[in-house]
Amino acid sequence: MNTSRTVVITLLAGLAATTVSSQSVSETAADSPEPLVLREIMQDMGKEMEKIAGAVSREQWEQVAESALRIADHPRPPMSERKKIMALFGNDMARFKGYDTKTHDTARTLADVAAKQEGSAVISTFATLQSSCLKCHQNFRKPFQEHFYGKR
Ligand code: HEC
Repeated sequence: MNTSRTVVITLLAGLAATTVSSQSVSETAADSPEPLVLREIMQDMGKEMEKIAGAVSREQWEQVAESALRIADHPRPPMSERKKIMALFGNDMARFKGYDTKTHDTARTLADVAAKQEGSAVISTFATLQSSCLKCHQNFRKPFQEHFYGKR
């Protein structure tokens, strides 16, 4: 609990530093607040995915395992934000969480096969991981952004 709280605080500190650049964008929409913590978490996962792709080409399996574990153990947004997301998705929340669980589990498998230096399994598991990201994005990103940022 304490460590995840520390991570969230660190994330928030990072957010404070980056909001300046996004402010000009959000001010154009009437009711669009600052980016959610979830977005920062997502950006970090995106960076780890890029590192994995680069590391596979170099057969740097330790780097793959390290990044995969960072994805598997990615922090959760603060409770207040999670409540808002739950309120938004209602009955669909189980599906949203299902995609999240699938992402965690697949990232963990990816770390395992990378630790064993099983190159082909790393590549196929990485593809499965990408699909798990994509499925949630396809289903939830649009309504999420419309709700929280007023985008259309
Ligand atoms: C359970 C749902 C879910 C899963 C699983 C998920 N995402 Fe996301 N992701 C979202 C939502 C919702 C947004 C939109 C957030 C926003 O716009 O503030 C998003 C946005 C993003 C963004 C764009 C951030 C930006 O700056 O606009 C990136 C990058 C991203 N996700 C990476 C990933 C990666 C990589 C994975 C898999 C390892 C993943 N996501 C898995 C829900 C998910």
